[in-house]
Amino acid sequence: MRQKIIAGNWKMNNDKEETKSLINSLKSISFSKDVKVMIAPSYIHLSDAAEMLKDHKIDVLAQNMHFLNNGAYTGEISPQMLKSIGISKVILGHSERRIYYNETENSLKQKIKAAIESNFEIIFCFGEQLSDRKKGKHFDLIKNQLKIPLFHLESNSWKRIILAYEPVWAIGTGETATPNQVQEMHSFIRGLIKQNYNDDLANRISILYGGSVKSKNSKEIFSQDDVDGGLIGGASLDFSEFVKIIESI
Ligand code: PGA
Repeated sequence: MRQKIIAGNWKMNNDKEETKSLINSLKSISFSKDVKVMIAPSYIHLSDAAEMLKDHKIDVLAQNMHFLNNGAYTGEISPQMLKSIGISKVILGHSERRIYYNETENSLKQKIKAAIESNFEIIFCFGEQLSDRKKGKHFDLIKNQLKIPLFHLESNSWKRIILAYEPVWAIGTGETATPNQVQEMHSFIRGLIKQNYNDDLANRISILYGGSVKSKNSKEIFSQDDVDGGLIGGASLDFSEFVKIIESI
């Protein structure tokens, strides 16, 4: 049985008070045992979030991290630093990191390696641009985005990987991929894992969808066979919207 997951990526939003207040509201809800809820507050509030959720089922994720544990890298945060405040889950490869901070398949390979060595659980994001889809290149592109960072890993390391398909054209745009487009891509991704590893592993990996998921479209997307949950951006900042999305899975 694959783990169902709803993760909220807060990006560069919510100050200290807003962070605490949203966490307190989420703590007051009892979600179904079948779904794993995660939130990714900004770096500066991770320590507060980890402390507030120490004995709670909601997991805290970092939105990014460096691949080294220390060194002269101004502005960066290391796996060891995250571990020291009780964080052992991280989002890697988000399209905003790829677009604005030049993350590449090779730099992500280093980050994945470091994350696995430090026993992190990873939500690995990938997705095509609209121009790739229009040219019919989206399947090849997704295959390449997975190949370099992930397909060299031994199968045991995949216990730590959650995949998140996020078509760039659907992120923050209000334009969602149709349930059919999502299912088609998720099934393709599961097929790639079968080819590179085996059926058992492919059937255990949770594959999330991200890109303008709202409570009005979440149920239909989550009901697709190969969709195991969502990575939610904008809608995760709104308490009642996020709760409705969690309840729709
Ligand atoms: P969105 O963001 O839900 O605001 O489209 C999704 C994401 O970037 O993970």
